[in-house]
Amino acid sequence: MTASHETIERIPLPLPFGWFQVLYSSELAIGESKPLNYFDQELVAFRTESGVAKVLDAFCPHMGAHLGYGIRDQAGSGSSVVGESIVCPFHGWQYNGEGRCTHIPYAKNLPPKVAREEEVIRPWHVREVNQCILVWYHPEGVDPLFEPESVKEAALDNEEWGEIKSFTWDIETHMQEIGENAVDTVHFLFVHGTNDIPDVVKLEFTGHTRYGLLKTRQPTPKGEIEGAIENRNIGPGLTFVRFTGLCDTLLMANLTPVSREHTHAKYAFIQKKVNGKTPAGGIGDAIIANVCQQMEEDRIIWRHKRYFEKPLLCDGDGPFGKFRKWYSQFLIE
Ligand code: FES
Ligand SMILES: [Fe+2]
Repeated sequence: MTASHETIERIPLPLPFGWFQVLYSSELAIGESKPLNYFDQELVAFRTESGVAKVLDAFCPHMGAHLGYGIRDQAGSGSSVVGESIVCPFHGWQYNGEGRCTHIPYAKNLPPKVAREEEVIRPWHVREVNQCILVWYHPEGVDPLFEPESVKEAALDNEEWGEIKSFTWDIETHMQEIGENAVDTVHFLFVHGTNDIPDVVKLEFTGHTRYGLLKTRQPTPKGEIEGAIENRNIGPGLTFVRFTGLCDTLLMANLTPVSREHTHAKYAFIQKKVNGKTPAGGIGDAIIANVCQQMEEDRIIWRHKRYFEKPLLCDGDGPFGKFRKWYSQFLIE
């Protein structure tokens, strides 16, 4: 090899700050812990005996063991939780969700920081809403600058809406590229084979939120039906998509960065109950299958494309400039 080989970063964008879904609530039972790998970092999530979800940096400040991997009877799952604290598998030190060491089982004299009840391991801001566990990520450690939103469809005790049907994709791209799909109306024709381009009825960018309303025409056995797709972003990581017209569906389309060019797309569908039951089959399933198929189609483009800061656009293209300007508020170079 000669020394002239030049490497170009495929997507030269930093990780955005915001709220990001790391787990569904149902994935973390009381007393359970789990390792997490997001934001190019190792973390641990645990649920205390009083039921609160907590997230800490993964590595024990004593000797660096990962708090998310249990040993002996807990090998293969997380380490144990006692009361409000997680127990390090290596020497049994315990930490609460505020990052303080609450117990060292064998020490006669506590290290000064522990005795003073100082934070010894970094706690993450956590919110549990919409049956999801969210954490706040900011590359410079700034505290939350906005809050996530809860929606009635995703409330656990909502009688009118069915159970979550969830899908996760591991996508080899920066999450901005995935978000940008929402304003790219033309790609529907080519990547997804739709008959026409959806009409953008509304598109609003307000602070950390974005709202879009699309009108669609969907062919059905009973003829063409007018439908609407609404989407609302809360920062770069959280999106609510609402489909109305055929089978009322809420899609929580959440994106969480593993690293700069690797994203988890966590999609959760909740559909309005019919005769008291979660819809099964029919148009409800067809909506879900259609979104899933679109993800498989989009990911081929995302996996191989490059990010251009100044793409060569034409007047029929979607509002990429507006989208990128809005998104740039979450990027710190
Ligand atoms: S490394 Fe965690 S208790 Fe020793
Ligand atoms: Fe798409």
